[in-house]
Amino acid sequence: MNDDGERTGTDGVDWDARAATFDDEPDHGLRDPRVRAAWADRLRAWLPGRAGDVLDLGCGTGSLSLLAAEQGHRVTGVDRSPAMVALAREKLAGRDAVFLVGDAAAPPVGERRHDAVLVRHVLWTLPEPGRVLRHWCGLLRPGGRLVLVEGVWGTVSPVGMPADLLAGLLAPLAGQVRVERLSPETALWGREVDDERYAVVAVPD
Ligand SMILES: C[S@@+](CC[C@H](N)C(=O)[O-])C[C@H]1O[C@@H](n2cnc3c(N)ncnc32)[C@H](O)[C@@H]1O
Repeated sequence: MNDDGERTGTDGVDWDARAATFDDEPDHGLRDPRVRAAWADRLRAWLPGRAGDVLDLGCGTGSLSLLAAEQGHRVTGVDRSPAMVALAREKLAGRDAVFLVGDAAAPPVGERRHDAVLVRHVLWTLPEPGRVLRHWCGLLRPGGRLVLVEGVWGTVSPVGMPADLLAGLLAPLAGQVRVERLSPETALWGREVDDERYAVVAVPD
């Protein structure tokens, strides 16, 4: 159940119900050492080189949060699903990390600023993504960055957000926008994929 008392989010998915099996997908649970290493390498390249504060929005079970914490970052994770947050807390027990139940579009972090806002596979589901991106830019310290991992999944009834659309939304907000195509990187997904997968690292003006 989310914080509005509804079982499903704006994406129509009951993430509380999905939480227990979410990590069964190779790129979710990162249980295969090759998949885990591939994501760790990418994250090291995308996140700041020195230890900082990372805000992981729609953090799910905390798999990317854990990689960031292992790389020395202090992590705040936010997810609407209490079941996801419970699993993330368990996964990062003893680490420099806190997890909050809340809306990724308006995270409950008060005036706190971060060195990176990390969001994987969540932005495309949020209403008014341009407004949300502007809000996320305001959660960054000067020189901070957005690290957004998105895609378009499926070919018959595709869902998601194409890279061109996301780059266009970021253009008025960020001087530096780097798009990295991830579809050919089978190690990230644990299998061949033929749909559009990418990451964007954007440094706001
Ligand atoms: C596809 S999963 C991605 C989880 C995680 N980012 C990852 O890559 O492993 C989507 C997650 O976003 C969360 N979510 C969806 N809409 C949200 C919202 N408006 N605010 C916060 N979390 C949200 C869901 O509960 C779920 O945990």
